[in-house]
Formats: sequence, C-alpha cells, structure tokens
Amino acid sequence: MLVGHQRLHALAVRIFRLAGSLPEEAEVVAGHLIEANLCGHDSHGVVMIPHYLRNLAAGTLRPNKRGKTVSQSGAFVVYDGERGYGQVVAREATVLGIERARSSGVAVIALRNAHHIGRIGSYGEQCAAAGLVSLFFVNVTGHRPYVAPHRGRDARLSTNPVCIAVPGAVPDRPIILDMATSKLAVGKVRVAANQGQKLAPGVLIDSAGRPTTDPQALFEAPSGALLPLAEHKGYALSFLCELLAGVVAGGGTLKPENQASDTITNAMLAFIVDPDRLVNPDWFRTEIEAIIDYVTASPPVGVSEPVLLPGDPERQQRAKRIAEGVPIDSATWAQISEAARGLGLDLDAELD
Ligand SMILES: NC(=O)c1ccc[n+]([C@@H]2O[C@H](COP(=O)([O-])OP(=O)(O)OC[C@H]3O[C@@H](n4cnc5c(N)ncnc54)[C@H](O)[C@@H]3O)[C@@H](O)[C@H]2O)c1
Repeated sequence: MLVGHQRLHALAVRIFRLAGSLPEEAEVVAGHLIEANLCGHDSHGVVMIPHYLRNLAAGTLRPNKRGKTVSQSGAFVVYDGERGYGQVVAREATVLGIERARSSGVAVIALRNAHHIGRIGSYGEQCAAAGLVSLFFVNVTGHRPYVAPHRGRDARLSTNPVCIAVPGAVPDRPIILDMATSKLAVGKVRVAANQGQKLAPGVLIDSAGRPTTDPQALFEAPSGALLPLAEHKGYALSFLCELLAGVVAGGGTLKPENQASDTITNAMLAFIVDPDRLVNPDWFRTEIEAIIDYVTASPPVGVSEPVLLPGDPERQQRAKRIAEGVPIDSATWAQISEAARGLGLDLDAELD
C-alpha cells in the first residue's frame, strides 16, 4: 500500500508519544524514519518501529535522553548517547561538532552508547547544510554479527556504515556517500524477506558458507551471513569502521562479549571540516561545479540512466514518494500494527 508521508509521520509521532517520548523527541525520531522511507531506504524507516518498541520494553533504549558531553578539549568532543534514541543523540553530537568546526575549523566527535542512529546520511546532510565537509565511521554492537569477513564463512562483523558528505555547487545538491560496508544493509534483507523476494546472487551465504538467494538464511537458525561490499575492499573498510568507532571513539567492538544484549548499539567517529579554512570559497564552489559537469556528462550506458552524483538517487526517490506516497508492504505494516496495538493504538482504524 501507499501511505502519504505526512500521514505516516503523524502516526509515527503518535506511536512514539504513546511509547513515552516527549513531543520534540517523537517528532525528531518520526521525522528521521519517514525521511529514510522518502529517500528510498525503507530498511531504516518505519520498519524499525517494532524493534524500537521492543528495545524500549527491554530497557536497552531509553526515551527522553539527549546524550551528554563526557569531555571536550580543542577540536575533540566525546559524547555519551545514554542509550537514548540514536536519531536524537547523534543529531545533538553533530550540532556540537558543527559549532566546533565553525569556531576551530575542524571537529572530531566520538559518540558512544547510542541506540540505533539510523540513516547516517542525515548527519552528513546536516553538516553539508552548514557548509561543512564531514566523514562518519560507524560500528554496530549489541547483537550478533551479520557480515562475514572476506575469505571467512561465518559472520564476524556488522554492516558498519560509512558516510562522506561534501557541500555541492548548489545548496540543494550536496554530495552524500552513505552506505553499509556489506553488499546489502540488514534491513534491506529483512524488507526482502517481508516482501517474499529473493536476493541477487553473491550477496548472502548460508550457514555452511554456500551462496544463497533466500533472505531467510540470514534470520533463521543456523544463520548465514551477508558478504562484504567489493570483496576484500569492503571487508577492510568495515574492519576499519570497527576500529575507528569501536576502539578510537571508545564505543566497544563486536567481540563476542558485546553481542549478547539483543539490541542495536551504534558508536561513531566523525570528522567535520570547514573547507573555507583550506581553500577559497568561490574556487571551492566553481571547482566542484566543473567536476560535476564533467563527470555527469559521460554518455550513459542505458539511455534512461544518466550518470548521477552520490546523493542524487535519494533526492529523486524523495521527490517521487512525496508526490505518490510511501510504499509499505503488508508484512511490514502487520508488524508495525501489532507493535502499535501493544500501546493501545489501532493503526488500521486510524488509516480508514
Ligand atoms: N545505523 C546503522 O547501524 C546502519 C548500518 C548499515 C547501514 N545503515 C544505513 O543504511 C542505509 C542504506 O545503506 P546501503 O548500503 O543500502 O545504501 P545504497 O547501496 O542504497 O546507497 C549507497 C550510496 O550510493 C549512492 N548511489 C546509489 N546509486 C548511485 C548512482 N547511480 N550514482 C552515484 N551514487 C549512487 C547513494 O546516493 C548512497 O550515497 C544508509 O543510509 C546507511 O547509513 C545504517
């Protein structure tokens, strides 16, 4: 079914209010999830609501926590997410980083102890909107691993996302690379399982290390594993995320002791840089414009598939879904409805 994004947003706000969030938090979390749906990343949209409600009930997600600064000196901020909604605490940590990068030219943010921070690109967009360049390295703990290391045949890592964001030649077209370091994000495998779809070959292995296209192989015991993006290169990048977020930022790694709590914990090491401290702002903009024009003028292999910039697919999906509504498959809707019923809310009656 297709649901209008404002309607979906209002329903998500009601759910988070009933789950104990104050109005501002409910707005921020709902806004982040619906924005992920609008950008085409359904894996990080409203499909996460049942997981969040379950983690609230288990006490591994705590409502109305904004996070707190553990220490700050020079360019550095260490921020404790207090197990609050990641969408709130990572946003707060990014605000601090933006302030610091504006005053000092650069900021290094170490975020720990946050519940799922969602679509990392949203923090890159936050920095690009402030005219700043940013790099984010994230790891995931608090549940079992999902991704096999290159040459390995069982899961030892998570989908450890990376985001690199640079302001564009025009304000509404920033360049945003935002991706998992696995061939697919776990949420996308879950969405495929919910929709009864097969995966492309070469994405997943089963528990015996054999290639499979069945998304259930990741969730049913004995479980298989996702493969890293671009073989050894994705594995190496994922391992570096584990080190940068899990060790350098102090969040802890996915070693066996940190897998048992059946929740989602993100740590993040972010670097935010003011490009005006390095190059002339006019030159920065015109040089970006020139290279964009050059690269995107490459004749497309497929007539209807022009060369895009990182960040363009999300903007295109956003425009389409704002106009047409957000598609939600029946299994995902059933899961969200059941979770909402636990809070006394009948979603189907609300939609009638
Ligand atoms: N919080 C977490 O723990 C966590 C873990 C993993 C992933 N994620 C999030 O999951 C989301 C989905 O990740 P993904 O790996 O499935 O993303 P993806 O594979 O859909 O896209 C990755 C990137 O590629 C770019 N892109 C896509 N097509 C392009 C084209 N034709 N030309 C140029 N650029 C193009 C996109 O703009 C995007 O920056 C991301 O938002 C990520 O932050 C979060």
